[in-house]
This record gives sequence, C-alpha cells and structure tokens, in this order.
Amino acid sequence: MLEAAFLGIMLFGWERVNPTIHYLSTILVAVGANLSTVWILTANSWMQTPAGRELVNGKFIVHDYFQAILNPFMLNSVLHMFFATLETSLFVIGGISAWYILKQRHPAFFSQSLKIALAVAIAVAPLQIYIGHLSGEQVYHYQPTKLAAMEAQWESSPAEKPADWSLVAIPNEKAQKNDWEITVPNALGYILEFKKNFSEPVRGLKEWKSEDRPHLVGLIYYAFRTMIAIGFFFAGLMLLSTLQWLRGKLSAKNVTQQRWLMRAWILAAPLGYIAVESGWIVRCVGRQPWTLYGQIRTVDAASRLPASKRHFLVWD
Ligand code: HEM
Repeated sequence: MLEAAFLGIMLFGWERVNPTIHYLSTILVAVGANLSTVWILTANSWMQTPAGRELVNGKFIVHDYFQAILNPFMLNSVLHMFFATLETSLFVIGGISAWYILKQRHPAFFSQSLKIALAVAIAVAPLQIYIGHLSGEQVYHYQPTKLAAMEAQWESSPAEKPADWSLVAIPNEKAQKNDWEITVPNALGYILEFKKNFSEPVRGLKEWKSEDRPHLVGLIYYAFRTMIAIGFFFAGLMLLSTLQWLRGKLSAKNVTQQRWLMRAWILAAPLGYIAVESGWIVRCVGRQPWTLYGQIRTVDAASRLPASKRHFLVWD
C-alpha cells in the first residue's frame, strides 16, 4: 500500500508537487520496497528452512510463528537481498554517470554522482561478498543437495581431506560426472569446512537418490559462478576507481580522460540485474525437488487443477 500510494507521486509528481513532497514520496517508496524485501525473503527463507512447524495426523501445522519468521536462513537472506538491490542501483547510477561523462555532457555534475555511488560501493561491494560467503555456509549446513549442485560435486570428498573446488566444469547429468573441469585442490574445503576442522566432508550428489536431489545441475552451477564473478567484478571496479579517485583522476577536469574506466562502469550497469536473477536461480532451482526443503515436494504442492480450469474459477 505504502509503495503503491507514493509510487505515483514519485513517477508523475516531478514539477507538479513541491520538491520536499517529491523527495519524501521517493523515500517512502524505498521504505515500502524494503519492507516487502523483508517479508518476501522471510517467507522464502521459511521454504528453505521450515522452522516452527510439526506434522499432526498427516497435517502440516505451524505452531510457533516467531520460530517460523526467525528461521535459520532469514537474517542472512534478507541482508544479501538488501545489499543486492543496493549494489545493483549503485552501479546503475555509476553507469549512467559514466555514459554522460564519456559523452562530455555535464561532466562536473556526473563526476559528483559517480563519486557518490562509488563512496557507497566502497562499503557495499566487499560486504556483499562476505554476506554471500555466509549464505554459502548456511547452504552447506542446511541444504547439502543444493550445495552439491552449486559445486557440481558428484562424489563426496574423502574424510579428513579438504574438498577440491571446481572453478569451471561441464557437468554431465546423464553420466553423473563432469566431462571436463579445472579444479583448485583443497579450496572448497578451506572455504567451507575450515571452521569444522574438515570433519564434515562435502557430500556429492550421488549420495542421494535421483528423486531426492536437484536436477539442471549445469544451470545451478553456472548461475552461481555468474553471480560470484559479477560480485568480484564490482569489487575490482570499485577498487580501481577508488585508486583513481585518490590520485585526483575523478575530478570534473580529469574524469573525461578516464575512458576505459568509464566504459567499465557502463558495462557494470546491467550486471546487478543478472546477478540478482542468477542468485534466485541458485536459491530456488537449487531447492528442488522440494517446495519446503525436506518436507513437501514441489510435485505435491503444485495444483492438480488444469490451467484452463483455474482460469475459469478465477473469473467465475
Ligand atoms: C561474490 C560473492 C557472492 C557470493 C559468495 C554469493 C553467494 C550466494 C549464495 C550461496 C546464494 C544462495 C543462497 C540460498 O540458496 O539460500 C545466493 C543467493 C543470492 N544472491 Fe548471491 N552471492 C554473491 C554475490 C551476489 C551479488 C553481487 C548479487 C547481486 C548484486 C547477489 C544476489 C543474490 C540474490 C538476489 C540471491 C537470492 C536471494 C538471497 O539468497 O538472498 N549475490 N548468493
């Protein structure tokens, strides 16, 4: 309601309402959107780690709403999504600014907006990588089948030895192996198992029956790598730009000379959206075959009514 009510003023109110009202409306749209983020991610996190529920006579019942809301995935997932939208917006603002700078249109104004986006990105880009890493740890802990698909790991790693990390691979679902891959020895173990002293090896997909683990392994694996690559690209671009800023190269006078840097910012503008979509593919395709992880299968949760009937009922 909040978002919908003030969106109209934000979009159509420019030069129609006074600037303070326009500014306040924009802030209220942002507050509304972020409240939605919290609830959408809370509901989705419950689907990943369904807490506060029990099965009574074959009925699935939530008995503790606080436990359900504060489920193990909730906090980290809300933060990762919040920073994802923030980071996407920062690089869109930076990319638009860079485009104007390259075209030599209002460089003084756009060097300022680029620097504002960059100043926030200095905090956000590394934080998002760190929170992403925590997301990976929670998947490892609570959703081993998803982790195995994210890493295209078919065989379990031997006990007491850190797991190798597959950098790139061509997963072959039929043969249940990777046709080709480049691996970094022990790296996955150091990323995930370090705190556990390598006592819990990373489990491979073959440990589960085919109907109990996700398919489309290639999609999940490459969506995960795409998201990570974009996260590191953002951080690298932020570092390089900060360096140039410290050397005075982003001033209104000098910034138009930074042609390659500006091109990199333009390239970065759509990447946040791709990272967000990739993240959701990892999260929800990786959760399959479950609607509620480990509890209710997607095939059982899907409506048995044919689509035509459903359409009919809605309009009846
Ligand atoms: C570079 C480091 C990154 C790592 C290690 C990382 C890790 C992860 C992991 C493990 C998940 C799956 C969580 C789950 O299934 O519960 C995930 C989901 C997601 N990621 Fe990332 N990510 C990174 C960067 C990014 C970036 C740069 C963005 C967007 C700008 C992004 C957006 C998302 C979104 C929207 C989701 C789904 C919602 C959520 O889990 O909050 N990620 N990420």
